[in-house]
Amino acid sequence: MLMSWDERYQQQDTPWDKGAPAPPLLDLLRDQSAYFGQGEILVPGCGRGHDARAIAKAIPQAEVVGLDISATAIQEAKALDFDKTCQFRKADFLAMPAEESSEVSAIFEHTCFCAIDPAERGVYAEACAGLLPSGGHWVTIIFLTPREEDDPTIGPPFQSSVDEIHRLFGERFTLVYSETPKSAFKGRQGKELVMVWRRK
Ligand SMILES: C[S@@+](CC[C@H](N)C(=O)[O-])C[C@H]1O[C@@H](n2cnc3c(N)ncnc32)[C@H](O)[C@@H]1O
Repeated sequence: MLMSWDERYQQQDTPWDKGAPAPPLLDLLRDQSAYFGQGEILVPGCGRGHDARAIAKAIPQAEVVGLDISATAIQEAKALDFDKTCQFRKADFLAMPAEESSEVSAIFEHTCFCAIDPAERGVYAEACAGLLPSGGHWVTIIFLTPREEDDPTIGPPFQSSVDEIHRLFGERFTLVYSETPKSAFKGRQGKELVMVWRRK
């Protein structure tokens, strides 16, 4: 990537940001909110925090923590959180200390996994496994095919595959939900998959 994530936010060059929570997340919060639990819910790669705030609104008992490597994104997420419903922290998710906390009930992510270089996705999966206690859920809206080219080295966003997710998560997690979302942002229809994996 030529520009860093933070530079992209500084220049307002953020085409992934639709200014609203992801439609499949809103469906999940309406129909499957139990997967999120009511503890601490981490949202890695939260950007300006639209998804984190939607989760906090739907599950007010939970403590929602948005994490992003970009200081500018975190600053803007805080500014948009008028009702102070979430915490937002600058953090590199790949360098999170693997401190499993019984307080964490879920990790929700949307368009973060596709932003991670495939060579580093093992570290991403390690972080999820290290932070979630047994029974906690990794809830993801995986953007499987964000681009036409089928070259896994091109990105971000990078392509993802179901096999890859099983390879990375299958040993320490059990797949409990997998559906193509019924609603999606324009241009993402049929390209995403909602998955919920439970920490063993
Ligand atoms: C494609 S954007 C999606 C942002 C947000 N989920 C949204 O839909 O608007 C990917 C986000 O992941 C963040 N990111 C990339 N690598 C990260 C890392 N290692 N740790 C935390 N955040 C990261 C970027 O700064 C960016 O905000």
